[in-house]
Amino acid sequence: MMARAWWPMAMVLVVGCDEDLLNPMSAQQPRVQAYGESEFYPDGMAMRDPPAGTVPRERVVQQSGLTTGKFSSPTGDLYLTTFPLKVDRPLMELGRKRFDITCATCHGPVGDGDSIVARQMALRPPPSLHRYADRAPGYIFEVITRGFGLMASYAAELDVRERWAVVAYVRALQISQATPLDRLTPDEQARVRSVGEEPPIMNPPAAGQSVVPRQQEGL
Ligand code: HEC
Repeated sequence: MMARAWWPMAMVLVVGCDEDLLNPMSAQQPRVQAYGESEFYPDGMAMRDPPAGTVPRERVVQQSGLTTGKFSSPTGDLYLTTFPLKVDRPLMELGRKRFDITCATCHGPVGDGDSIVARQMALRPPPSLHRYADRAPGYIFEVITRGFGLMASYAAELDVRERWAVVAYVRALQISQATPLDRLTPDEQARVRSVGEEPPIMNPPAAGQSVVPRQQEGL
């Protein structure tokens, strides 16, 4: 008899597992799902358009240089050759963090295109970013914002400030890998040498190696 009396209890526990334990109220109350139907609105759809003319609070507006990397000139749009925000240590640190998380997987931690992912990509591997040292910061910003050829846009992962921070850090990486050791102060040289036997290596395209053709449709 005792064993039987436990059955209803066990049933309640089993059913209980289906509930959203962290948010039981929202799981129980009447609601509609995203993209679901709703009898409440005349058009029968649950999801609503935002009121006309409204923008998300976080969207940066009316600063096209900052958000597109370009400015208008009489001869057409040009890429910004300077940074539209202050490049200071916090920005560089943010750039390094975001680069390491978002870009290094493909372009390598020093941006030279040497990564495990790149070695597996036969079709069009991520290039060394050191080849783009002469490109305007606005251009790199646009590549991150809109994607390029096979590379996806990273606008959803990185907000405007984070994208510029990454551009600044890419610039620092380019300089770091292309500066001859004797341009550093003796102190800095000693610090670099103490890291390893070899001085920093620059990775220009090998002799005879062609630069991957650009896919303009991606822009
Ligand atoms: C999933 C891999 C991947 C990630 C992550 C990635 N890229 Fe790329 N990137 C590529 C590939 C592949 C190409 C070559 C695309 C092509 O030519 O079709 C490329 C090309 C580029 C180019 C050259 C564009 C040109 O004009 O040829 C730049 C600059 C660049 N990436 C910067 C970045 C930055 C900065 C990030 C981080 C925000 C990033 N990439 C993240 C794969 C990646």
